[in-house]
Amino acid sequence: MGTLPTMTEPPVLPTATYAITGATGHLGRLAVDALLRRGVPARNVIALVRDPDKAGDLAELGVGVRGADYDRPDTLGPALEGIERLLLVSSPTPGRRVEQHTNVIRAADAADVGHVVYTSILHADETENVLAPEHVATEDVLQGSGLPFAVARNGWYVENYTGRLDEYLARGEIVGAAGDGRVSAATRADYAEAAVSLLSGDITDQQGYWELGGPAFTMGDLAAAITDVTGTEVTYRDLSPGDYTDALRAAGMDEDTAGFVAALEASTARGELETDSPALENLLGRAPTPLVDAIRAARL
Ligand SMILES: NC(=O)c1ccc[n+]([C@@H]2O[C@H](COP(=O)([O-])OP(=O)(O)OC[C@H]3O[C@@H](n4cnc5c(N)ncnc54)[C@H](OP(=O)(O)O)[C@@H]3O)[C@@H](O)[C@H]2O)c1
Repeated sequence: MGTLPTMTEPPVLPTATYAITGATGHLGRLAVDALLRRGVPARNVIALVRDPDKAGDLAELGVGVRGADYDRPDTLGPALEGIERLLLVSSPTPGRRVEQHTNVIRAADAADVGHVVYTSILHADETENVLAPEHVATEDVLQGSGLPFAVARNGWYVENYTGRLDEYLARGEIVGAAGDGRVSAATRADYAEAAVSLLSGDITDQQGYWELGGPAFTMGDLAAAITDVTGTEVTYRDLSPGDYTDALRAAGMDEDTAGFVAALEASTARGELETDSPALENLLGRAPTPLVDAIRAARL
């Protein structure tokens, strides 16, 4: 895994042409914002998007917008022309990802991109998390490509939880099967900023695999933090894996999705979403956003 000294101030990024895939998505858009905030001229930032019609706000920022569909290699070559540093945001389509990411990596290789950052999953090579195999396969393709690369092995997004705040508050409880499993979640904005740090600076120092996560909390801690911030009591109710799957089905979830969600919960219970790695803090040059601040922000 890469190591970096703790930074006090994020350095202004070197002049290069940066491209971000999935730039109309949450993480990609935040990465575009982070590049601009770090002093990269908008003309040196290229937003790669599946649907340019959805990228009007990006064009208004003055960044370049190019169509790039992971499923259409014919779009990827032109999209990556002249790009020196690429952030490949993992696709949101399980089952399709290895082929899609391979298409992008091949196109990056053909375009002589100088450095690729890929967003993977925490502990990709040792976790039993059901999402990991496609990330590991992508990491292998990247390593095999010979391209200089860094892998941001992101933990869970805090927004996976804060996005459900209204539901938790309405029910007065969080229902799950995570037991005492701790989750080193961080905000998307923090992961985006870290990815941008990996895109920049001394490329040699920033190659390798980075386990990224924020301060760890259990679902009980999450319920307590929501109670503290909102003044509305929320508790955590832990179910057995079987009862949890049944509850998801009873709430209208189809069989496959319920099994998938329960499998992710089991990964949390096994502690696979926890890390004590200081890498996120080091890349940010500050502590990751505290959970209570993320909950407060979600209330605004
Ligand atoms: N760590 C976690 O907790 C967590 C949670 C959820 C997801 N993830 C992973 O992290 C990634 C980024 O998260 P996010 O919140 O930014 O997801 P998101 O908001 O759903 O963004 C996904 C982006 O991928 C784009 N995309 C989808 N299919 C594509 C294709 N065939 N070709 C090119 N672009 C395509 C989407 O384009 P459109 O705007 O056109 O739809 C969108 O911009 C996800 O895709 C997923 O792999 C991680």
